[in-house]
Amino acid sequence: MRRFMRGSWVLGWIGALACLSGGVSRLSAEDTAAAPSASYEAEKAKALANPYPNDFGPTLIDASKYPAEIQATYKTLLTVKCARCHQASRPLNSQFLEPYGTKAEKAAKLVEWKQKNPEIFKDRAVWQPEANIWERYVKRMMAKPGCNIQPAEGRKIWQFLTYDSEQRKTGANAAGWEKQRRQLLADFKAKHPARYNELFETR
Ligand code: HEC
Repeated sequence: MRRFMRGSWVLGWIGALACLSGGVSRLSAEDTAAAPSASYEAEKAKALANPYPNDFGPTLIDASKYPAEIQATYKTLLTVKCARCHQASRPLNSQFLEPYGTKAEKAAKLVEWKQKNPEIFKDRAVWQPEANIWERYVKRMMAKPGCNIQPAEGRKIWQFLTYDSEQRKTGANAAGWEKQRRQLLADFKAKHPARYNELFETR
């Protein structure tokens, strides 16, 4: 891990510059009111020093056909609050897949996918379907220093991520998602073999 971090230092700096330049126009009054805390800066440095294949995919998606409330969350929360330490590409191109809906609906969808889309359960680097994976990760991000996400916002982001992951990674879009994700994985493996190994071959 330590060895890797030193190796990726240059990359971390490139990432930091990209993030800063992309972030300036989006800074809200809340973000600029107080100087960012040292612990937030440290968390951001950590986020950028350890890349994911996700980071090299698109930072935007087409959400224009999503329900209005989900679109609003995408525009005002996901692409703002989840892009302060790493880019929005990190959640948007993730293998994480959580069904949208109530607890019972989530369980029913997982059963249905096992029958209709069995490929979704065969490669966890492409699809990682779990009943509460986005809930866990949104909470994990919210617990980070300087994250600045209120509980009601966190719930909306969680709802967006379940809706979006289901839309873009399952059903008729499963094959397109697989192609895009496999390309990201192949490119990442070629560029960052040690990190690829750490993420996908040692678990
Ligand atoms: C305060 C900085 C910070 C903010 C804000 C933040 N993240 Fe992260 N994120 C990190 C760090 C650091 C990592 C590296 C892994 C870890 O520490 O959990 C990470 C990793 C990730 C990963 C990769 C996890 C994996 O194992 O594949 C995802 C997905 C993610 N973040 C989603 C989000 C979402 C969604 C939001 C908005 C709710 C968000 N992040 C906001 C710092 C942040």
